[in-house]
Amino acid sequence: MRVVRVGYLISGLVSLALILYILNLIYPYYQTPTEVVLVTYDVIYLPLPKKVSNVSVEEAILWRRSVRDYAKDPIRLEDLSMILWATYGVTEPTWGFRATPSAGATYPLEIYLVVGEEGVLIDGNAYLVAGVYKYDGRKHLLRLVKQGDFREELYVAAIKQEWVRNAPVSIVICAVFERTTSVYGVRGEVRYVPMEVGHAGQNIYLMSTALGYGAVVVGAFIDEDVSKVINAGVNEVPMYIVPIGVPKTPYRTTFKDIENYIIKARGG
Ligand SMILES: Cc1cc2nc3c(=O)[nH]c(=O)nc-3n(C[C@H](O)[C@H](O)[C@H](O)COP(=O)(O)O)c2cc1C
Repeated sequence: MRVVRVGYLISGLVSLALILYILNLIYPYYQTPTEVVLVTYDVIYLPLPKKVSNVSVEEAILWRRSVRDYAKDPIRLEDLSMILWATYGVTEPTWGFRATPSAGATYPLEIYLVVGEEGVLIDGNAYLVAGVYKYDGRKHLLRLVKQGDFREELYVAAIKQEWVRNAPVSIVICAVFERTTSVYGVRGEVRYVPMEVGHAGQNIYLMSTALGYGAVVVGAFIDEDVSKVINAGVNEVPMYIVPIGVPKTPYRTTFKDIENYIIKARGG
């Protein structure tokens, strides 16, 4: 008799679970709505850099592509932390040398970040407030420059390149030329500083690829307008805008494909 009652109870519970499951499919709003929590601080201490990816440097180079089409997903703060560290973070603790080489270690670059609404996921359902931030590589933190979603303004300044508007975040690399030209003169201006921007840009590409994101370096923009958007200092010249997001279709190829390409290029 008791066995029969337990049987009824179990089948009743299973039926109830089934009904709740079906109801949830039909009326997904039965779920507790996820509350979006925005986090505003003037200083954001980024998660400390550490080894996080299992993508080798060969794979990151193989899979790096300029990505201009992004899904709606945000960038996770811990991933953003790694991308910024790769851009201009410290990799040598005695002198504070950075992830990118620098002529005479003059370090002319300043790194800004334009964060869109719900562009950076901190944890669970908490997002970094939209705004312009400046990266401090020595302390590995972000300082809020101004609050608000400035992607539209950045997009206009970047002669309306859609990916600048759509990316959840864009890094803006600026250069203070005097830091390098005061040591190397005009060679610092026409060679060393632009070369260093390229190094930083490539690091962004590779770290983004390794973490499952896609980026594109954007060099076509109106300098003065970009400077206004990010509140750049008078001697800070914007050099690159680098939108970053989750690719709609991640680019993948294999070394076998490349081998075939090379053999064909060699004439069979
Ligand atoms: C100096 C420089 C400036 C660039 N400027 C832009 C740009 O303004 N907009 C853009 O969509 N891509 C820009 N790119 C990306 C190139 O279009 C891209 O690297 C090229 O098409 C090769 O594709 P890949 O990066 O996927 O190999 C730029 C690249 C470099 C190196």
